[in-house]
Amino acid sequence: MIYRKTKNVMSLFVKKLASTKVVIRLLSSLCSIGPVGLFFLGCCATALIFFIRFYQWTDTSYVQMEVEKKVPPRGHRGTCCLSVDRPEDICGRANCTSPCLQLGHFTPALEGDSAKLCSQEKERAFFLETSGSGSLNFRQACSVESLTLHNPNLTVHVLFVDVPINYSVTTLLKLKNKYSNLRFVSINLNDYIAGTPLEHWYHCTDWRQGPFHVSHLSDGLRFLTLHKYGGYYFDLDVIVMQPVTYYRNFVGAAADGQYVASGVIHADRKNTITKLAVEELVRNYRSDIWGHNGPDLLLRVLKNWCEVEDLQSMNYVTCRGFNVLPKSSFQPLHHSNAKEFFAHRLVNQTTANPVWLTKNVIGVHTFNNLSKGQPIHKNSTQIYTGLARHNCPVIFSAAPDVF
Ligand SMILES: *[C@@H]1O[C@H](CO)[C@@H](O)[C@H](O)[C@H]1NC(C)=O
Ligand SMILES: *[C@@H]1O[C@H](CO)[C@@H](O)[C@H](O)[C@H]1NC(C)=O
Ligand SMILES: *[C@@H]1O[C@H](CO)[C@@H](O)[C@H](O)[C@H]1NC(C)=O
Ligand SMILES: *[C@@H]1O[C@H](CO)[C@@H](O)[C@H](O)[C@H]1NC(C)=O
Ligand SMILES: *[C@@H]1O[C@H](CO)[C@@H](O)[C@H](O)[C@H]1NC(C)=O
Ligand SMILES: *[C@@H]1O[C@H](CO)[C@@H](O)[C@H](O)[C@H]1NC(C)=O
Repeated sequence: MIYRKTKNVMSLFVKKLASTKVVIRLLSSLCSIGPVGLFFLGCCATALIFFIRFYQWTDTSYVQMEVEKKVPPRGHRGTCCLSVDRPEDICGRANCTSPCLQLGHFTPALEGDSAKLCSQEKERAFFLETSGSGSLNFRQACSVESLTLHNPNLTVHVLFVDVPINYSVTTLLKLKNKYSNLRFVSINLNDYIAGTPLEHWYHCTDWRQGPFHVSHLSDGLRFLTLHKYGGYYFDLDVIVMQPVTYYRNFVGAAADGQYVASGVIHADRKNTITKLAVEELVRNYRSDIWGHNGPDLLLRVLKNWCEVEDLQSMNYVTCRGFNVLPKSSFQPLHHSNAKEFFAHRLVNQTTANPVWLTKNVIGVHTFNNLSKGQPIHKNSTQIYTGLARHNCPVIFSAAPDVF
């Protein structure tokens, strides 16, 4: 892996510098170069230190990324040259086209919204649309509204990836007009991942060939986003029913109680879990298994970090400040029962909530990947219809009869 190799070359170099023979020779030559030479040497050393600092994935580079004002990126990060004396790109190919921007000068490139995204006044929440669409369908918009409605204390961001946002689409229009704590942001992925471990994976591996690549990009970006900014992450198929802000630094358990569900996560900025998750994704990426880089990955990271094997033993103590919420919190229904959301019930059954919909349920994961083909009728007795009516009223009233 070239990315690692680069680091190794650096550390070898530093080690060599430190070896006694070199030090002695250096000291003797220092005596003969005079004050101008010393000054020059000092400058070189400072530059070298800065280079090393920004070359690694340090916390500093994140702070830098947030604070810097917009610098238009030169060239493409996937094909830019690492440096003048190393004419190869991030993937190690020799035919690079332009110099790489110095790391630490990248901005999140959040079109017209970087100031708001970086504002510290409110806790942030994120949704990610990674399929290349610049708008939301009614079900996605319902998720976004449900979180925004029940959590006025959150600033909710919907990130669109490498696509202009289409504000003339009804869902976006309605939400934008109604909720002041909601932002739509289009990110330039090239800049967004610059200087992070995802960069090499993104530009240099064949992750796009996999059948689940949209989902896997979303896996990587959710961990990275939470690491960068801190806050909540929600899948676009979770209908939120209550405030979530009482809970922090958690992931929810999946309905089987054996796995975690990575569709809802909170992590403080620069949390170790999200750092480990990003690194694990790059290190053990599998394009052929849907859950390998998301829920399964989080479980691997947690087992390692908490040093326990089962979810029941993972808590704020064993996981040192992180927690696994019970399945009732966000995934009360098992994915094999996803069709229950869409079943038409008898009228006399609709007064009672389904047994799994207890007061402990904070949000309901509706398994869009399995259920997107099931139509929702607006005046039906379907459970989904009831959830939408109560938790995303604006979108529900704007939705067509069948959505
Ligand atoms: C750059 O070089 C690689 C091989 O190192 C080659 O596969 C690729 O097509 C080249 N790209 C361009 C734009 O010349
Ligand atoms: C929202 O913020 C206000 C003021 O800071 C606080 O009183 C309230 O408890 C918060 N609500 C939730 C659900 O966290
Ligand atoms: C934006 O959405 C509107 C309404 O759905 C559509 O007519 C238009 O073609 C879209 N524009 C782009 C650039 O996709
Ligand atoms: C609902 O009505 C059907 C017949 O219309 C009846 O068989 C069923 O027992 C009723 N269920 C409840 C919970 O009352
Ligand atoms: C959909 O999600 C379930 C678990 O929630 C998973 O087992 C399945 O592989 C996923 N299918 C696709 C096509 O993404
Ligand atoms: C919706 O309700 C109206 C009357 O309340 C009824 O006429 C119509 O058939 C219903 N539509 C569906 C799709 O159930």
